[in-house]
Amino acid sequence: MKIDVLLGLQWGDEGKGKVVDVLTPRYDIITRFQGGPNAGHTLEFNNHKHILHNIPSGIFREDKLNMITNGVVLDPIVFKREIDSLETMGIDLTKNLWISKRAHLILPTHRILDAASEAAKGKSKIGSTLKGIGPTYMDKAGRNGLRVGDLDLDFMEKYEALKAKHKQLLKQFDYAYNLDEEERFFDGIEIIRKFRRVDTEYEINHFLEAGKSILAEGAQGTLLDIDFGSYPFVTSSNTICAGACTGMGIAPTTIGEVYGIFKAYCTRVGGGPFPSELLDEDGEKLREIGKEFGSTTGRPRRCGWLDLVALKYSLMLNGVTQLIMTKTDVLDTFETIKVVTAYSVNDALTDRLPYDLSDNVKPVYTEVPGWQTDLTGVREKEHFPKELNDYIRFLEKELQVPVKYVSVGPDREQIIEM
Ligand code: GDP
Ligand code: IMO
Ligand code: MG
Repeated sequence: MKIDVLLGLQWGDEGKGKVVDVLTPRYDIITRFQGGPNAGHTLEFNNHKHILHNIPSGIFREDKLNMITNGVVLDPIVFKREIDSLETMGIDLTKNLWISKRAHLILPTHRILDAASEAAKGKSKIGSTLKGIGPTYMDKAGRNGLRVGDLDLDFMEKYEALKAKHKQLLKQFDYAYNLDEEERFFDGIEIIRKFRRVDTEYEINHFLEAGKSILAEGAQGTLLDIDFGSYPFVTSSNTICAGACTGMGIAPTTIGEVYGIFKAYCTRVGGGPFPSELLDEDGEKLREIGKEFGSTTGRPRRCGWLDLVALKYSLMLNGVTQLIMTKTDVLDTFETIKVVTAYSVNDALTDRLPYDLSDNVKPVYTEVPGWQTDLTGVREKEHFPKELNDYIRFLEKELQVPVKYVSVGPDREQIIEM
């Protein structure tokens, strides 16, 4: 058995939550291996919409085991809120959600530091979700972090020491804050205590040997990767496939399929370069039809045409074996669809993503005819309009990876296997 990995190939919000929910029946175990509550993964079924932040998107399918592994940073406050909301739906997760002892905890002061640091950056701010992600990973790399496994050790001592360090750091910012959230943090800690806290790396490798099938759910997207994204406008973890190895404790040779998920166009929320961004009517139309507002922060997402230069870079970094195209229906009414097939940098054409993605990078577009057909009710590929088939063939030829699923709406049912 191998571990399959599902990853976002753009700037996040590609529809990972929906597709993980669709694929879950084929697996025994679903994991989240990096990121934290900066993620917002939306699932829709039976006219019900649910957004998950810390918890893997496998939890709505019965009898599946879900794991939050070591690469994740976990916020007890958000976690409790998620658990409470699932409880109101009659879902008790205490049996089928396991948490790694090695996962780092987000403290209220991490969130304050995130906000203070962003405020201090002024115009050059990253546009962080302000969930404390950066400061928590900083403490992890700086070897100061507090981990889930510490709940059974000298937790309070470590907590106080880290809080004191944060208070010291906060002195350098002119930033007013209070610690009102501390009580809710400890309520969340009590909820985490109800869950199995294990060495997920042993459990996963053991399950693998026993022939269980595992799907690893990425968060954010490749172009937000700490190493390969448009630094510093990135998140603080490795969002690429290699992040699944370090984020779960699995060998690279255990990875099977790599599902790369992308929207039929592009969005980005927060700051940073976005070569194919549309600041015109088309951009507005994509945002409106695609309901492009952040699942975690509600911010309007910036919209643009599909960028194959960026997508090819993502394929290279991840070793994608199957493509999943989402939000295809959002393009239903466009007469023509544009796709970036090269960049012009200082008047020279390139198919590489340059180190400096600033204003001197101009996208070069290829135009293809739109299908101008409502896809939301389509359930079989035989019913695809010719122009959509042509669009898919065009992408496959450019990308050299097969498109295996096409999503045509937010609901669990609105997806076609090719
Ligand atoms: P994630 O972070 O990758 O899980 O994606 P988000 O949940 O943040 O954002 C994707 C949004 O698009 C959600 O509101 C989904 O319900 C919605 N969505 C997913 N797939 C489709 C699709 O094929 N068509 C449409 N119209 N919406 C979709
Ligand atoms: P999912 O998993 C889209 C963006 C933020 C900001 C940058 C850094 O739902 O696809 P951070 O909070 O990590 O310090 O923010 O990354 N960002 C996301 N954008 N989807 C996400 O997650 C994101 N998580 C972080 O908007 O630009
Ligand atoms: Mg999201």
